[in-house]
Amino acid sequence: MVMEQIDTIISQLSLEQKADLCSGLDAWNTFPIKDCGVPGVLMTDGPHGLRKQYDESTAMLEQSVPATCYPAASTTACSWDRELLYEMGAALGSEAREQGISMVLGPGINIKRSPLCGRNFEYFSEDPALAGELGAAMIRGIQSTGTGACLKHFAANNREYFRMVSNSIIDKRALREIYLDGFERAVKKGKPYAVMSAYNMLNGTYCGEASALIRGVLRGEWGFGGLVVSDWGACYNREKGIAAGLDLEMPYSGEENTNRIIRAVKNGTLDEADLDACVRRILSFVFRCEKNKKLPYQCDMEKNHALARRIAAESAVLLKNDGLLPLKPGVKVALLGEFAEHPRYQGAGSSMIHPANLENAIGAFRSHGIHYTYAPGFSISGDTVDETMLAEAECAARDCDVAVIIAGLPPQYEVEGIDRTHMHIPQNQIELIERIAKIKPVAVLLCGGAPVEMPWLSSVSALVNCYLGGEAGASAMAQILTGEVNPSGKLAETYPLRLADNPSYHFFSDDRHNVEYRESVYVGYRYYDAAEKEVLFPFGFGLSYTTFEYSDMQTDAGSFAPGGTVTVSARVENTGGAAGAEVVQCYVRADEAPFKKLCGFEKIFLQPGESARVSFTLTERDFSFFSDGWQLMQDVHVLIGASSRDLRMGIIVEIPEGKPLPEYPVSTDGHWNAMQYYGLFEKIPHITFSIHPFTINATLKDFDSVTIGRTVHRLVAKFVEKHIDPGGYMGHDIMLQLLEENPMRVLVSMSGGFFTYGMARGVLMIVNGQVFMGLLAFFSAYRKRKKQKIKSKK
Ligand code: BGC
Repeated sequence: MVMEQIDTIISQLSLEQKADLCSGLDAWNTFPIKDCGVPGVLMTDGPHGLRKQYDESTAMLEQSVPATCYPAASTTACSWDRELLYEMGAALGSEAREQGISMVLGPGINIKRSPLCGRNFEYFSEDPALAGELGAAMIRGIQSTGTGACLKHFAANNREYFRMVSNSIIDKRALREIYLDGFERAVKKGKPYAVMSAYNMLNGTYCGEASALIRGVLRGEWGFGGLVVSDWGACYNREKGIAAGLDLEMPYSGEENTNRIIRAVKNGTLDEADLDACVRRILSFVFRCEKNKKLPYQCDMEKNHALARRIAAESAVLLKNDGLLPLKPGVKVALLGEFAEHPRYQGAGSSMIHPANLENAIGAFRSHGIHYTYAPGFSISGDTVDETMLAEAECAARDCDVAVIIAGLPPQYEVEGIDRTHMHIPQNQIELIERIAKIKPVAVLLCGGAPVEMPWLSSVSALVNCYLGGEAGASAMAQILTGEVNPSGKLAETYPLRLADNPSYHFFSDDRHNVEYRESVYVGYRYYDAAEKEVLFPFGFGLSYTTFEYSDMQTDAGSFAPGGTVTVSARVENTGGAAGAEVVQCYVRADEAPFKKLCGFEKIFLQPGESARVSFTLTERDFSFFSDGWQLMQDVHVLIGASSRDLRMGIIVEIPEGKPLPEYPVSTDGHWNAMQYYGLFEKIPHITFSIHPFTINATLKDFDSVTIGRTVHRLVAKFVEKHIDPGGYMGHDIMLQLLEENPMRVLVSMSGGFFTYGMARGVLMIVNGQVFMGLLAFFSAYRKRKKQKIKSKK
């Protein structure tokens, strides 16, 4: 539909209708206005499969339609393969079309600042170039089918702890170079239909209300013309959001926010032109999706399952191998670990797919001709060492030639909304690995969406990191073990030796509200390499069943001037005995300071003895840092190699017009200096969060500071215990923990009309000391509560 037609529709809409359009119909559909010919469109999670709930009226996690469950982003990132991500996106898009879904809520490309973030499994990398490139490829794939993609969570949403009321405090250099860079790449190269604003505040302003971020950077600087949608329940001051360009609130949260928009326009605090701009973008989005419904597409679930397997296999990272792998044909394997029966293949939360065709290792290994005896060895529901299970596993190992142990993070360790507090795998698994390693050579297949500490590493012969392999991850494991597939994945994040080595260790969850990103640009390998820290496995690392040699680096220029490019290349040869793929990486390292960044990567497949030249064209941005605007660095080294710590060749590029990098001393113990960090800001954007009197932005945990608040908290806990199925989608403890950190306003918007603003106001009166009046208000709102799950059509 052309813009003039959209403008004609806008001119026919009343203020109320325009305000209505700015939030959904329910939890997943946009609001239709049939009289004006405006249809509604359906969107669902994402990102590694579809989560189309049977009940579209609620945003609470409900049973969903079976769909292909692809490997999670932490896994696919290890493929370093744009084409593969494109293919995955296209398959996801076709499945969405089949289900009548117009937009998939993904990919998520937030930076892995700490290994502890409970949502790391949904994100690609600690490096923005890798995350942005892969995100862009996936977006292009999804959108090639006529399904929209929604890039999320914009921006700086890097922990889950109090994610809806926390304030990420980031200096401008780190913000641009680390936390926005991936979004910029994905927006410019992927051109997503939509961008989802994050829950958190960034430098003192909610991301969905940050005009400088949405209007200034996203739309103004990067030229994004699509829809900006809130994360689910992320709206606080709705009229401020409209003014900032946050077009659509999802899910529908009741009439409160619609009325706020109407009131603000009427009393002149919101310019109607800003509202019209949001409505225009919503209508463009809706009509674009509507038009796509006519495009042809093909969805083949069997093909998608096979693709899910290929992605899992090509993303697995061989981290250690003393020659045990691939397994010799005919060896007798003791297959150990309960994950062989109950696989870890995805994380929990909004991305949790109901897999259409879930495999496990017990079945997959058999069909791949692996002769095994299975014993669980440990239970995944706890971490207690069970001697009987261990003895059974030892017995199985004695009767076999080798042991394959599937170990890793149990499902309750990786849940959206909840950060981990440590990097261990449970003790019962460690015990199993160590005891079995005394009996037979052990290969560990590691599952989980984030790094773990590995005090047991030296006792095993081989280690394959399978991350979260999706529904076909088990047969991908079998392919790697047997050598049917030669592993070619490389880590998209550093594995530190211990959690305390992470640069954000002291500044990750020390404060509910203000999160000081004290390490600035020193995130991931940028830190470990600059601080010369020993690591368990470096960024970009991964072995193969073959070997690759690098030689003959060439460049077309020894110096760089603004507006130019520098192309570097190297020859890579497969010098081993098996066909395989290598991820060739290109970094730029400052000459005068300890600072290095990834600027390019290519994955090439080579037969034994074959060689190929791989080249990278670097542009101005690759040689720049951010100060007030992008500035050229001084002379740099351009390095090519196999990981951030295995750079085989380099050349110097002189940059006569370059400037020195801003000084920021690297702390080797993570105790970053406050004064140096505060010195990066004109004014530190700390927020003061008034705990009492409580507002609609207060959480159940905040209530604990007063006696009556603790009682309310306890009552909610009892309610959860009574009404949430303990064996259900999430279980009591996790559900309660999620609820406890959500502000009242989010509980309202996510409840699908179960808990209304009126009821929330009653609760607030109670905890603020007006117990009697609060009870009256609560019950009166409760009685009036008409199910607000679906907006009434006007
Ligand atoms: C998540 C989003 C997700 C949305 C809808 C939110 O809690 O942060 O990633 O798309 O829910 O389920």
